[in-house]
Amino acid sequence: MANLRISLAVVVLLTVPYRPGYALWCNCTTAQCQKTGSQCETDGACMASTFFNNGQEQHIRVCITRDSLVPPGQPFYCLSAEGYLNTHCCYTDYCNSMDLKIPSVTPPPELRGGYGPGGTWGLVELVAAILGPLLLLCVLLLVSVLMYHYHQRAYNHRQRLEVEDPSCEHLYLAKDRSLQDLIYNLSTSGSGSGLPLFVQRTVARTIVLQEIIGKGRFGEVWRGRWRGGDVAVKIFSSREERSWFREAEIYQTIMLRHENILGFIAADNKDNGTWTQLWLVSDYHEYGSLFDYLNRYSVTTEGMIKLTLSAANGLAHLHMEILGTQGKPGIAHRDLKSKNILVKKNCTCAIADLGLAVRHDSATDTIDIAPNQRVGTKRYMAPEVLDETINMKHFESFKCADIYALGLVYWEIARRCNTGGGVHEEYQLPYYDLVPSDPAIDEMRKVVCDQNQRPNIPNWWQSYEALRVMGKIMRECWYANGAARLTALRIKKTLSQLSIDEDIKI
Ligand SMILES: Nc1ncnc2c1ncn2[C@@H]1O[C@H](COP(=O)(O)OP(=O)(O)O)[C@@H](O)[C@H]1O
Ligand SMILES: [Mg+2]
Repeated sequence: MANLRISLAVVVLLTVPYRPGYALWCNCTTAQCQKTGSQCETDGACMASTFFNNGQEQHIRVCITRDSLVPPGQPFYCLSAEGYLNTHCCYTDYCNSMDLKIPSVTPPPELRGGYGPGGTWGLVELVAAILGPLLLLCVLLLVSVLMYHYHQRAYNHRQRLEVEDPSCEHLYLAKDRSLQDLIYNLSTSGSGSGLPLFVQRTVARTIVLQEIIGKGRFGEVWRGRWRGGDVAVKIFSSREERSWFREAEIYQTIMLRHENILGFIAADNKDNGTWTQLWLVSDYHEYGSLFDYLNRYSVTTEGMIKLTLSAANGLAHLHMEILGTQGKPGIAHRDLKSKNILVKKNCTCAIADLGLAVRHDSATDTIDIAPNQRVGTKRYMAPEVLDETINMKHFESFKCADIYALGLVYWEIARRCNTGGGVHEEYQLPYYDLVPSDPAIDEMRKVVCDQNQRPNIPNWWQSYEALRVMGKIMRECWYANGAARLTALRIKKTLSQLSIDEDIKI
């Protein structure tokens, strides 16, 4: 900019028209003035100027016309550029004869021809002078980037907390909301697979255990209290983590919730420092298992139909695949028995203990875990499971094995039916008369596969419509050929019809 001004000044000075003849004489160094003895006449001012040009100091002396002395008081021509131009205007004859000096302020390097101020800087200083600000800029940039990242992370963290922070629990766990409301709302409006995990954890950790109500394969089942209501807590030993995880996973299958399947509430794994407590929390049913119930009570025809129809209802839902995004896969229970079915207060069944269940992926026709050959309870194993002829690649086979077990459960119920004028039999487990109390696979296979024996269906059942129908269903559940057995849906329809015929309100 300064350079430009000097060049401009020089060019303008050289083109100022020479007007001799009056007022003021000045020294003049331009080419035109050589004709007039290096002097000029002006009505304005005399000017002397010293500046650097290509590293050399040069002096000019010229006349400035009056109309060029703008702006008044501080004419453009008379200004100096600090550091490399010294200009002096004066208004008496030859007043511009003096020799001006460039002020001590150092001219810019391009005018001096050396490194740095005054040409005294070394290369190192120059590099430092250039790199210093650059480095500073880089540091500033880095700091801004780091700060941006920090804020971004803090923001994300906050966002996550807003979703998971237990402080959001008040939305779910308001004092006036019962667990049933909560689960109902979430299962009908939400994903259909249960409570959010942090709510599950909070519920689980505020349960007060009361008493043991059952013992099974993996640990103990307790009755617990939560907000004045009862819940059941199945506690797994830490060795059984996989079983705990699997059962929780199955219960949280989308759209599994059904009135005849045990209502799942929460899963929690709490590390107390020494071991991990693994909890599955579910609805509590004070009658306990169907096994306990039948041991204690006999049932009316109505009671029998309610129990059997609701069990078929639950199993049909479990087995059924529902298509669509909010659909559910087909699920086979694989350990159906009277101890794994609970009796609800309204004397209907809830299928429980889904720890051995398998899910079917119909898109790929695969089963979600590698199913092992023989799981479940030996007494209830279908003939094809006992003799290992079951086709484990075919999901339907597992459903057929469930139906066989359902037939045995029906037999346990029907024996306790007091239709025949108060005549009913005492409770017995299926095959009680054919195998010992904890039968081995071989013992079961001999009876079920080799001898093709099944629990006894008494002849007198034929005299009572409900028991006749029950007997017929059982036989059709017990075919040696799994594929020939009834489906849960078929059983459900038959029993629904029976309940209408018997004028039973379900
Ligand atoms: N929700 C419940 N309400 C009442 N009793 C239950 C409940 N869940 C389980 N039980 C009792 O505990 C027993 C064992 O439970 P279960 O889920 O079958 O465990 P396991 O997998 O160890 O067999 C059942 O037979 C039943 O008597
Ligand atoms: Mg069980």
